[in-house]
Amino acid sequence: MCGIIGYVGSKDALPILIDSLKQLEYRGYDSSGVGLLGHNAQLIVRKAKGKIASLEELIRHQPVPYASVGISHTRWATHGLPSDINSHPHTDNKHRLAVVHNGIIENYQPLKEALKKKGCKFISQTDTEVIAHLVATLYNGDLVEAVRRAINQLKGAFAIGVIHADHPDMLVAARVGSPLIVGVGERENYIASDVPAIIERTRRVIYLKDGQMAVLTKEGVKVSDFAGKAAAFKIDTVDFNVTAARKEGYPHFMLKEIHEQPQALAQMISLRLKNGRLNCEGLDLSDAVLGGIKRIAMVACGTAYHAGLVGKYVIEELARLPVDVDTSSEFRYRNPIIDKHTLLVAVSQSGETADTLAAVREAKAKGAKIVVICNVIGSSIVRESDGVLYTHAGPEIGVASTKAYTAQLMMFYILALRLAAARKTISPAGAKKFIAELKRIPLLYKDILKKKAHVQKAAEANSHFGCFLFLGRNVNYPSALEGALKLKEISYIPAEGYAAGEMKHGPIALIDEYRAVVCIAPQSHVYEKMASNMQEIRARKGNIIAIATQGDKEIKRHADFVLDIPKAHELLTPLLVALPLQLLAYYIAVKRGNDVDQPRNLAKSVTVE
Ligand code: AGP
Repeated sequence: MCGIIGYVGSKDALPILIDSLKQLEYRGYDSSGVGLLGHNAQLIVRKAKGKIASLEELIRHQPVPYASVGISHTRWATHGLPSDINSHPHTDNKHRLAVVHNGIIENYQPLKEALKKKGCKFISQTDTEVIAHLVATLYNGDLVEAVRRAINQLKGAFAIGVIHADHPDMLVAARVGSPLIVGVGERENYIASDVPAIIERTRRVIYLKDGQMAVLTKEGVKVSDFAGKAAAFKIDTVDFNVTAARKEGYPHFMLKEIHEQPQALAQMISLRLKNGRLNCEGLDLSDAVLGGIKRIAMVACGTAYHAGLVGKYVIEELARLPVDVDTSSEFRYRNPIIDKHTLLVAVSQSGETADTLAAVREAKAKGAKIVVICNVIGSSIVRESDGVLYTHAGPEIGVASTKAYTAQLMMFYILALRLAAARKTISPAGAKKFIAELKRIPLLYKDILKKKAHVQKAAEANSHFGCFLFLGRNVNYPSALEGALKLKEISYIPAEGYAAGEMKHGPIALIDEYRAVVCIAPQSHVYEKMASNMQEIRARKGNIIAIATQGDKEIKRHADFVLDIPKAHELLTPLLVALPLQLLAYYIAVKRGNDVDQPRNLAKSVTVE
């Protein structure tokens, strides 16, 4: 959702806050602002609707004095339209304190009514402004105490940063549900929603836990719980490289991250498939426990959900274990049938998606063992799980998930092999053969990327279509769903993924010369079925872009454009078709002039319901 930053030190805070905010802009980008504590106990606020560039423009016209303490925010609106007045930080009526907030205050209405009765004047439509007035009404010279008492009245998810003009060298922060880290520097300290924002300034971070608050000064950091009891904390050193947070010459993070996939998968293979042996470090479940599992339930959202669906096909095929896959927002409210023989697998790139976090807590309460496939070290969902399989794909900045998706797929192949070994549903020779196939993938990726110009040509030739259908069968039905999602979220073209066998039961009515249909048809035991689906579309003048196995001459007769993938084990084809699907969406969105990295109405991790 939103991104928040804070700084306490001796340097000029403004450039630090603005620069770090830019690293977080992928979290939300409809408005932004800064709050600074200048000399002579002055609180200075500048905020503006639009991208951070418009905030910089405002500050050029309304310069701010030197200040060494400040907070800043980039917004993804939940309450109140994107506007100057609804941008953060929000202040009290005396303009003495400022608050930035990521999350949703669920009880803000009753609090607002009570504060109005106490004479507070509200100027915005946001839930956050309540926090500023609440702290102000509880303030009697002790900012930490006022914030502590205020946060104990808040319901919902929040990560906040608070500064007060009476305390020119202090920043108070707190979190429940929404992510917040503290960056520890030399006589300077930071708060941030995510590591990339401060990685260029310090690698020493404290992952604040739910229900913790932190008091930052130049001298140090104090952590306590919401009752005010001091809490011990660990300073972790983050090891991912700074370059990952930069575009490195690519026009978009998305294209850069698409090109990072061969390396990301090669790294996973070297970590997890050492000398032909599986390394499922982090899973922490013995053969006996794995052997005793009767069923897997999976929860995830968006692209991660599609990875889970591919995982279902692969695990059921290799480990002969029944798998149910749910979107987290449905799972958490459907009273799912879960017991101690159920392994709950959660999939989340960010590890912060609110619905998935809640689904994990729901399953945990019902006795399930929890394993999460995640890309962010120390994130909230990880902390709720019994086992974690990190995908180590590096930070994913582009809102449209690419390398995290293929890393999740790779992890499912590895997990399926582990389960199959524990359940003795695959012979050592069979496992060895499958591992050898997996190890070819990074090289095959390089081949596909070498031919991206061909995908670009097909994309540009089809970018004028107003509606797309994506069709796949068996393990590539989820690939069709993912292809459609990628196109929808960055090109804004209505697109639907469908199991091709379902066409005759409705969607075929959509087919005519004004539609484009992407048919995912690599060589497989359902190839013939896909080929006949394509003929049905052809017969109705539909425009076909086929994703097929290299050398497939037959398919050329049915399709207007053919995007090749190398020959591979059919169970692995979702990993290969992912690239042309990502590139197709990318080039169509670029052709349409869209902001590919920050598509409208979206945010990288959805930390509220
Ligand atoms: C995918 O491109 C989207 N950004 C979105 O669907 C995403 O997959 C979903 O919000 C889940 O996020 P997570 O993996 O961080 O939980």
